[in-house]
Amino acid sequence: MRTIDDLDVAGKRVLVRADLNVPIEDGRITDDGRIRAGLPTISTLRERGAKVIVCAHLGRPKGEPKPEFSLAPVAARLGELLGAEVAFASDVVGESARATAGGLADGAVALLENLRFEPGETSKDDAERGAFADRLAALAELYVGDGFGAVHRRHASVFDVPKRLPHAAGGLIATEVAVLKRLTEDVARPYAVVLGGSKVSDKLGVIDNLLGKADRILVGGGMVFTFLKAQGHEVGGSLLEEDQLDTVREYLSRAREAGVEFVLPVDIVAATAFAADAPHDVVPADAIPADRLGLDIGPESGKLFAARLADAATVFWNGPMGVFEMEPYSHGTRAVAQGLVDSGAFTVVGGGDSAAAVRRLGFAEDGFSHISTGGGASLEYLEGRALPGLQALED
Ligand code: 3PG
Repeated sequence: MRTIDDLDVAGKRVLVRADLNVPIEDGRITDDGRIRAGLPTISTLRERGAKVIVCAHLGRPKGEPKPEFSLAPVAARLGELLGAEVAFASDVVGESARATAGGLADGAVALLENLRFEPGETSKDDAERGAFADRLAALAELYVGDGFGAVHRRHASVFDVPKRLPHAAGGLIATEVAVLKRLTEDVARPYAVVLGGSKVSDKLGVIDNLLGKADRILVGGGMVFTFLKAQGHEVGGSLLEEDQLDTVREYLSRAREAGVEFVLPVDIVAATAFAADAPHDVVPADAIPADRLGLDIGPESGKLFAARLADAATVFWNGPMGVFEMEPYSHGTRAVAQGLVDSGAFTVVGGGDSAAAVRRLGFAEDGFSHISTGGGASLEYLEGRALPGLQALED
């Protein structure tokens, strides 16, 4: 894969596909990790005299402009972090984008409006996507792919534009891929994987693949209730994916045969309602009352998970252990984060939610070997799938 060192960018208009998909509440960015992760590539290009045109998506506005999905707050934050003005184009490939891109001086930076305001960006129709990619590519002379969090999407800005311009991978993609290689090739053992988050159906592919690779799989978060139910336990009103029970049973039995240890919680914080102020207690994982729902793993499980991480040499973690945004249900996620920090292992936190969780819970980023900007992207990489955005950069 070519890197930006292989491109002669001085005086050229360079389109950078970044992943600036950050959480925004009431117009305020609540976690700017992805913007900060994109800074080194943008800064390097500026220093080398490029005219930098950044493009990115925010949320899923489904092909039409929606003010609540505008990248304007991101342009402001990017400018603050760069310590430089960021010209903001109020459209993606229209008059404003052409004027903004055309007016850039060497070393200056622009951000285009949300790519997903254009139906061509996410279209499944190759011709529609291609027509949009033509217009996007026409804004620049070179392309740099640096939006790791979106490389699993076969979208115009990720997959089709690099076919139209000389291209290279930015520093973030290069780093992310190097880290993920360490999790798939010659991994240092014991290799423990912690999976959480709400849906087991999002994790099936990765579990399937990890059954042949990981030594231990620790499961928490909303998805764990499908595992507990598959073991014959009642889960009350907790999240449950009935249609995945057979698959989960099959995974548990394949794990036994392959000698992969599945570590499930032994206790659960169960509440009367999905609310921070709802009455809640710690209950055994195999005895969740019918009128309760599990919102976090319990304290004994936190200790158990930390113990199963303590002697690991490599740990990959994707997905919070509970509803960490609500303080009473944040302790399991905190215990796992601390377990990673204390393990001394090569630790990778993957996924927007887990990355935001460790920062929100006050953990220093340098306590982990790597905090990935990619949720779905890192999971699909670990599933062994070909990622369109990486393929396009390799061509
Ligand atoms: C993410 O948040 O994982 C990436 O930005 C990709 O977003 P998407 O799932 O909406 O494609």
